[in-house]
Amino acid sequence: LHGATTFGAEGITMLRPSFAATLPLVLVLGCSSAEPEPVATPTYWQDVKPILDGRCIDCHRDESIAPFTLTSYAEARTASTLVARAVADRIMPPWGAVSGHQSYRFDPSLSDEQIATIERWADAGAPEGDPSHEGPALGRDVQTLSRVDLELTMPEAYEPTTEPDEYRCFLLDWPLAETAYVTGFNAVPGDATIDHHIAAFLIRPDNPLGPDVVTALEELDAEDAAPGYECFGGPAGDSGLVLPAQQLGQWVPGQGGGDYPAGSGIKVPAGSKVVLQMHYYTGGGTSPDRTRLEMRIDDGVAVEAAFAPWLDIAWIAGGMEIPAGMDDVVHTHSDDPRPFFQSFVADTDVSNGFDVHAVMLHMHKLGVSGTVAIDRVDGSRAVLLEIGRYDFNWQRLYHLAQPVTFLPGDKLTVECRWDNSPENQPWVEGVAPAPRNVNWGEGTGDEMCVANSYISDR
Ligand code: HEC
Repeated sequence: LHGATTFGAEGITMLRPSFAATLPLVLVLGCSSAEPEPVATPTYWQDVKPILDGRCIDCHRDESIAPFTLTSYAEARTASTLVARAVADRIMPPWGAVSGHQSYRFDPSLSDEQIATIERWADAGAPEGDPSHEGPALGRDVQTLSRVDLELTMPEAYEPTTEPDEYRCFLLDWPLAETAYVTGFNAVPGDATIDHHIAAFLIRPDNPLGPDVVTALEELDAEDAAPGYECFGGPAGDSGLVLPAQQLGQWVPGQGGGDYPAGSGIKVPAGSKVVLQMHYYTGGGTSPDRTRLEMRIDDGVAVEAAFAPWLDIAWIAGGMEIPAGMDDVVHTHSDDPRPFFQSFVADTDVSNGFDVHAVMLHMHKLGVSGTVAIDRVDGSRAVLLEIGRYDFNWQRLYHLAQPVTFLPGDKLTVECRWDNSPENQPWVEGVAPAPRNVNWGEGTGDEMCVANSYISDR
């Protein structure tokens, strides 16, 4: 067994990070002279609605995932104090990447100035202003899928039964008889009010664990009377397999999915399986869900690509200790990833290095921050992604505006930081359990640290 991990699940608790760690709020007055121009008080119609419409209502509307709507003045006014605090803390819109390292595509985050506008509006009592002065919604770089060539649908509807979160996997057949390339991926949530995250994993017939993997997953599915099987950390569920799972695509509310970068695509051999992993958020009620995956397919690609996970294999064997009670535990792995990657990317030759197009960081519920970086031979460092305030609910793929190249001699570094103090325990049925010693594993009480990159050869 060469590469061995699963990754990519995420979940939700309503345990919010403390509001204590707020960013200092800078009011942008636009003038540094002794007597600044008085700044007009922002109003809902002119200043605030354009921000809410452009950055919030994808989720904060009827039929979507957020617990309340922000589509009318009355709703925005009622929530104004909460809204101001959530944007000032950069909890909303959900976006974990620290700025200053890379620019990313599909970045919904607000500027300091936009945050200040919302703050001043809330402080002034959330004035409505004049509807005839409604400003245009903020534009945004949105990812889209240009073609749908293949759809994979859950075989039957499933209604989650666990509150407020449930993680469920469905094993689907890959229907194409010839080798194909997935060049774009999207999901159509069966019920957008409960679908918090959707991930698809590829299990190739030539996966390093052999065909028994599929048998093991089929058994899990068969043992569970309801459709699919329970799975938190990744597609392996309770099988005990350390599955070399490879991501095929993912969807989160507000981001969606779309075409893969620059003529690239993921090779899918005939006979593969796809594990569809659903994170259901049922805090607001449950309902049947039948989600559909949409894919763009090509016969060949200019650039062969793959999702490649990066971690320390020693972690899997119990080497990632996160002792009970400790509030600042860090594990770092820095090495040449090419031999490890090669087992995941199959036909993509990474011996001359590779280009990184997108990256995500996966931990479980004790994770607080992390970094993925390329450390160069010359001592310089290219940070691909720094997550300043990790939120298990909002693991997403960060698309680099410009690919970053890894060259032979460089090292790829992944660093994760956890807080296992009593104050940071994920609630289980309304109760925060006592801290316990934690190590690598698939379960909700275990942890992981995986950088997952979409790479192509060069
Ligand atoms: C991608 C979907 C999404 C977007 C975009 C989004 N929200 Fe949220 N929001 C949620 C969800 C879901 C919750 C419930 C808590 C959670 O899952 O983090 C939430 C919670 C909140 C809360 C409660 C905060 C708390 O700590 O409990 C506020 C306030 C809020 N959002 C405001 C906003 C504002 C303002 C914007 C736009 C600037 C925005 N949201 C954009 C999905 C979203």
